[in-house]
Amino acid sequence: METMAVRTIQDLGDAIAGKAILMRVDFNVPLDKKTGRITNDLRIRQALPTIRYAVERSARTVLMSHLGRPRGKAAPELSMKKVAERLSELLDSSVGFAPDCVGHEVRKMVAEMAGGEVLVLENLRFHPEEEDNDPEFARELASAADFYVNDAFGTAHRAHASTEGVTKFLPSVAGFLIRKEVQYLSKATEQPEHPFVAIMGGAKVKDKIGAIRNLLDAADLLLIGGAMAYTFLKYRGIPVGDSMVEEDKLELAGELLRRAGGKIVLPCDHLCAEEIGEDAEPVAVEREIPDGMIGLDIGPKTAGLYEKEIAGARLVTWNGPVGYMEIDVFAGGTRRIARAMASCAGTCIVGGGETAEIVEELGLQDEMSHVSTGGGACLDFLAGKQLPALAALQQAGKVECCGDQDSAGPDGC
Ligand code: 3PG
Repeated sequence: METMAVRTIQDLGDAIAGKAILMRVDFNVPLDKKTGRITNDLRIRQALPTIRYAVERSARTVLMSHLGRPRGKAAPELSMKKVAERLSELLDSSVGFAPDCVGHEVRKMVAEMAGGEVLVLENLRFHPEEEDNDPEFARELASAADFYVNDAFGTAHRAHASTEGVTKFLPSVAGFLIRKEVQYLSKATEQPEHPFVAIMGGAKVKDKIGAIRNLLDAADLLLIGGAMAYTFLKYRGIPVGDSMVEEDKLELAGELLRRAGGKIVLPCDHLCAEEIGEDAEPVAVEREIPDGMIGLDIGPKTAGLYEKEIAGARLVTWNGPVGYMEIDVFAGGTRRIARAMASCAGTCIVGGGETAEIVEELGLQDEMSHVSTGGGACLDFLAGKQLPALAALQQAGKVECCGDQDSAGPDGC
């Protein structure tokens, strides 16, 4: 993906004072299945610089997001109300909440806002028109506002009414988070520094094919971990016991290995168990996993080798855990990767979703150069795909370049 050339909220200058800004944020935060409480608020915190910027310039800031996948129907457990409450705590000021995202009442609430106030709209995906990118719905969303700001990097791979359609109806610019994400992730896709080490984990090869292909061109080494490693190992003819293997992706794994020409590094030892469960006894296994055993983490030798490669890199990207994180004894390899990145002097970029949560749990987020808020969006960006929401912003106005250091945002982003 070429360096992003879009206007940002800064380019609107003083024009936003007293005006209604419709801001798309990605407040799709993880919720505790039992209590419904927010378990990680990274995405809310990462949106604060743009929100504060608008508030400080007396804009009337109207925030819209989706939460979960309610499939076009209202679902009380996925209401944005709790997100509005968390935002209010983080901003240390009151935040309004609208019981819908479109309609007369919303327009009235926006019209009555004073400069500097913040309003959170109800979950966009309670309306099927959002994901259908319905033009009338996009027009309706836009109708209460003067400007549109997109700061939802995590949703930039979706062409929805609030990310793509709405740009046809309002002057549209990016927020600081989108700019920061593009600046950092472009370090991996455009003329990366070398040695460039990419780490890919997670369960399935099929979820990461695009990113693996693209990174194979750019990176010097691709270190593989997680369950996806067993599909590669099986293709190579190395016994993997009862480990998870995507049988229908064996040929693809072979194609990637051939194309990699030695750049792909696979685990040479493993932590295994006879079954997956809280009481599982970890057994260290070298190279070949015997029948009856399931590979659940990279072994100590592999972790040491990966640490060494990370330490010598000028650029590291990481996406996906290298072990079965749900069981603590199989989280050790992933923790070692996180710590190695935290102490690496090069640029270290952590992919969003589960990987970002792990880094936050370990309290290492400030040691990383960048922790992405995008899961699928981050992978699509690394795969070199054009993200529809970014394309729509580019279409909306091609004036400033996001990579322009002279226009750094409030936190230097
Ligand atoms: C994400 O969590 O990756 C984004 O918020 C997009 O969510 P979605 O996969 O439900 O579209």
